[in-house]
Amino acid sequence: MSLTLVELDRPVDERFWFPFTYEEAGLGFNNQWWYRGPVYPHSKSIFLRFLENNNEVARVHLDTEVGIDHYAEVPPLGAAALEIQFIEVHDDHRGRGIGRAVIGLLHNRYQDRRLVAFSEGADGFWSTLGWRRHLHADPEEASYFRPLFIQPQA
Ligand SMILES: CC(C)(COP(=O)(O)OP(=O)(O)OC[C@H]1O[C@@H](n2cnc3c(N)ncnc32)[C@H](O)[C@@H]1OP(=O)(O)O)[C@@H](O)C(=O)NCCC(=O)NCCS
Repeated sequence: MSLTLVELDRPVDERFWFPFTYEEAGLGFNNQWWYRGPVYPHSKSIFLRFLENNNEVARVHLDTEVGIDHYAEVPPLGAAALEIQFIEVHDDHRGRGIGRAVIGLLHNRYQDRRLVAFSEGADGFWSTLGWRRHLHADPEEASYFRPLFIQPQA
C-alpha cells in the first residue's frame, strides 16, 4: 500500500479556518469529528489527509502541545509529546492496514516527537500497535478519564 501524507496549510488571509469543508460530509468520514467549528489563529493543531491513489482514505488531527503528567507511570516527555487528537480511517477502508500505515508515516515525519493518544473506544487498535496503556494517576478518577496510549521509544 502506498499512502501520501498531506499536511493542510492554513490560508494566510483567513482568520477562522475550516480545514475540512461541510460539503465533504457523508463521504465516509464523520462530520461531527471534522467540522466542529473554526480553527483559531493561535491553535496548536495540525490537520492531515492521507491519500491512496488520490483518494482520501484517512484523516488525522494532531495537537502539538499536550499534558500527560496526570497519568500514572508516564515517561517525562515534556514538549516532545505530540498528541493524535483524532484519527479516522474512511468507512470503506477500515481493516486494510491503513490505520497502522498512517501511524508509521506520522512516526517518520515527526521523528523528534513521541506520539500519544487518549483512546476513545479504540484501545484494541493502540494495543495492537504495541503502545503502552496508562490510566489517570488517581485510581478514583481513572474511570472518568480516557486511557492514554504512548508510542514506544524508537
Ligand atoms: C481505529 C481505526 C483508526 C483503525 O484503523 P484501521 O485502518 O481499520 O486499522 P488497521 O487495519 O491498520 O489495523 C491495525 C491493527 O489494529 C487492529 N485493530 C484495528 N481496530 C481495532 C479495534 N477497534 N480493536 C482491536 N483491534 C483493532 C487490527 O486488527 C490490526 O491488527 P493486525 O495488524 O495484527 O492485523 C479505524 O477503525 C477508525 O477510523 N475508527 C473510527 C474512529 C476511531 O475510533 N478513531 C480512534 C479514536 S482514539
